[in-house]
Amino acid sequence: MKTMNINTITFIIVIVLSVWYSNFERCSATRGWRTLKASSSTFNVLDFGAKGDGHTDDTKAFEDAWAAACKIEASTMVVPSGSVFLLKPISFSGSNCELNIVFQLDGKIIAPTSASAWGSGTLQWLEFTKLNKITIKGKGVIDGQGSVWWDNTGKLPKTKPTALRFYGSNGVTVTGVTIQNSQQTHLKFDTCTNVQVFDITISSPGDSPNTDGIHLQNSQDVVIYSSTLGCGDDCVSVQTGCSNILVHNVNCGPGHGISIGSLGKMNTKACVSNVTVRDTTLHNTLTGVRIKTWQGGSGSVNNIMFSNIQVSDVETPITIDQYYCDGGKCHNETSAVAISGIHYVNVKGTYIKDPIYFACSDSLPCVGITLDTIKLEPSQSSNVPFCWEAYGELKTQTEPPVDCLQKGSSSSAGIMSSKQSSC
Ligand SMILES: *[C@@H]1O[C@H](CO)[C@@H](O)[C@H](O)[C@H]1NC(C)=O
Ligand SMILES: *[C@@H]1O[C@H](CO)[C@@H](O)[C@H](O)[C@H]1NC(C)=O
Repeated sequence: MKTMNINTITFIIVIVLSVWYSNFERCSATRGWRTLKASSSTFNVLDFGAKGDGHTDDTKAFEDAWAAACKIEASTMVVPSGSVFLLKPISFSGSNCELNIVFQLDGKIIAPTSASAWGSGTLQWLEFTKLNKITIKGKGVIDGQGSVWWDNTGKLPKTKPTALRFYGSNGVTVTGVTIQNSQQTHLKFDTCTNVQVFDITISSPGDSPNTDGIHLQNSQDVVIYSSTLGCGDDCVSVQTGCSNILVHNVNCGPGHGISIGSLGKMNTKACVSNVTVRDTTLHNTLTGVRIKTWQGGSGSVNNIMFSNIQVSDVETPITIDQYYCDGGKCHNETSAVAISGIHYVNVKGTYIKDPIYFACSDSLPCVGITLDTIKLEPSQSSNVPFCWEAYGELKTQTEPPVDCLQKGSSSSAGIMSSKQSSC
């Protein structure tokens, strides 16, 4: 009887203690969690239920982590290394967010490859919109798993998404990360100002269709530098509405080169000005530095500088094409995007097809083209430079010699440009 009593008392004490202890644990854990969140304003997607196993859909966890980060100025949303997060199309919308959010990307984010994840199609996979000062940084990877889209067997939607798109934002920084195998364009900025992109890598196969590297549209004050861009289309493409764009210390290839355009498609008005591309190398690309416009457009491209451009095995290093036609039927029209003030300084290396190809509009010739210190050697063909309705000046002797550039400015350019080219 006595022993039983002692055992019972011991038993009761153990129960009471363990219940008390577990309550204590739970309370302190909760308190600790709250304190951590409020003080550090760091939001790790793993704390919001992300699995990071590469199979589970982590979209909801990312949405929840973003909703929390969004409320606090200068907060950090953490996507940790060592995990692979599968995300469906997602928008990190900032219309009601605080300033200066950092998206710390050290893990890997992958896109779904099954048709069901994409519904009837979407223009982008990962979207950041309407933010004021947003930074994506880290050593992480964004992988569009695009191969299923490139050789689309018909199951996926017709519209191929851009992997990472920023829209309507000011003060955007993207640094450190790798963006690879996009379904279509890898990184796009639309209607953004004060954009900095540096130390990034873009990588997809040279034969992957329409996988532009960086696409700029309606954006101003953009700097892209110290980056390696290899893809199946333009490494950088500068579209309508862009001005004050600087691209420097970039390696491009494979790909289609660095392009302004295409512009003026379907009789649209296009305006691009103040673009500098310098200290850049291109290897094994379709073009080096290129301006391409469609027949029938209007608006203008002016004040463009291409300097210290090193090419190797580039099909056509220097190109202006005002007869751009990307498949389908195109016919010549009288209206064109006006091209003026295009400067090439120190463009050197080897070409495969044409060293210089200027195909300007019959109705609106290119004016103010200058060539300074050009040294291009054939690695296969020995085509001579081609010019059509191209006006400008040789600042130095060139190699190969350029005899086709016309001096002065065309009379038709003056008349037409005042009508069509106001931007
Ligand atoms: C282009 O640069 C010129 C001179 O540097 C400047 O006056 C002009 O405002 C710039 N254009 C745009 C659209 O920013
Ligand atoms: C358009 O104009 C260019 C230059 O005059 C000419 O070489 C080309 O053949 C024309 N294209 C068509 C489809 O008429």
